[in-house]
Amino acid sequence: MSSHNNVILIGFMGVGKGSIAREVTKHSDYLAIDTDDLIESMQNKSIKKIFEEDGESYFRDLEKKVSLWLSSSVKNTLISTGGGFYKQKKLKNIGIVVLLDSPFESIIKRIKKHPNAIRKLKKRPLLSDLKKAKELYDLRRPEYLKLADVVIDVTNKSAFDCAKELLKKVKKYG
Ligand code: S3P
Repeated sequence: MSSHNNVILIGFMGVGKGSIAREVTKHSDYLAIDTDDLIESMQNKSIKKIFEEDGESYFRDLEKKVSLWLSSSVKNTLISTGGGFYKQKKLKNIGIVVLLDSPFESIIKRIKKHPNAIRKLKKRPLLSDLKKAKELYDLRRPEYLKLADVVIDVTNKSAFDCAKELLKKVKKYG
């Protein structure tokens, strides 16, 4: 277990990592950061543009850079990550790994009913083809489960309820 006291949120695109992280910060002393936001501000470019102009492997190198910085320098923080960030080595050196879990169909339903659904789908290059996205989900889900210290089933639950559950489960590691 890491000595950094961080909580690192992993899970598939659109599962609600950002919303749940925001809710956790409202009900705890945690500050939250997001690996995609860090990358976008470092590059002054959207993730979509980075994928289009520089390619996915360039993006993965940036994730690696962020991961090294997180494990060397960040403490007591809630870290939400892009859906592919879990592939970074030594994730557990960063903090307690919390998986936000939900079936693929529920995730897509959740995105589609959001008021900004079109924007949410457009900004995620790997969701542009739902058949391929489902294949990616099927490939990743067992890997997410293998890595997770804590699993939260977020299906049909509010961000508030998920945040409460997260804080309760993570406390045991304190
Ligand atoms: C990705 C997920 C995205 C973003 C990028 C790649 C992935 O983040 O990092 O588009 O590989 O699953 P979200 O999970 O926040 O959508």
